[in-house]
Amino acid sequence: MEIEQEMVQVRKARITDLPAIVEIYNQGVEDGIATCDLSDFTPDERYGWFNDHQGRYPLWVAEYANAVIGWTTLSPYDVKACFSLTAMFSTYVHREARGRGVGTILRRHLIEEARKLGFHTIVNRVFAVNERSIALAKKFGFTQVGHMREIVYRDGQFIDCVFFQMLLEPAGDAKESPANDK
Ligand SMILES: CC(C)(COP(=O)(O)OP(=O)(O)OC[C@H]1O[C@@H](n2cnc3c(N)ncnc32)[C@H](O)[C@@H]1OP(=O)(O)O)[C@@H](O)C(=O)NCCC(=O)NCCS
Repeated sequence: MEIEQEMVQVRKARITDLPAIVEIYNQGVEDGIATCDLSDFTPDERYGWFNDHQGRYPLWVAEYANAVIGWTTLSPYDVKACFSLTAMFSTYVHREARGRGVGTILRRHLIEEARKLGFHTIVNRVFAVNERSIALAKKFGFTQVGHMREIVYRDGQFIDCVFFQMLLEPAGDAKESPANDK
């Protein structure tokens, strides 16, 4: 799929986007290097999850040519109160659109919005074999803060995970994000 990056729009997800969001997530499930879910979801099964992402932990989609081609979301790191300024996040891009800068556009948006929402730090956990996701984290200057060995068991194999973290500066002090350079 050819992507003209300047035509990609990131906006809050609507309920009508849910089938596309779930389709893209299910591709990640099938690929086996992105998530620990082992089977597909239906949109109905993700309805509760969608509603959980309408407040402090939003869900955004990347729209291109009237189609949803990717999404990103913040999630609680831990429900205990003292973790309230820390968030986890996920980013999924349609298989046909990967490697064309959509993840970069979504990640830039996520960082800006997380800062505006007042989070102090954002973290994510990535399969150590997920080269694109690791490249995306490093591109934005996330720090690798951990490497846990064999914490995932999938299809008869143990897989390592790496942990990335970014401390968010207040909006006025933000450093320049990587340019939209693709
Ligand atoms: C990981 C993912 C979100 C990245 O989004 P993307 O749109 O593919 O990423 P981009 O095109 O913006 O590329 C980001 C960086 O990844 C690297 N990259 C791109 N294609 C790559 C490839 N085939 N192999 C390794 N690294 C690659 C590049 O460093 C690139 O930055 P650059 O072009 O400025 O050098 C997307 O590939 C995806 O949805 N993968 C499946 C689901 C997943 O793994 N989600 C993350 C779970 S932790």
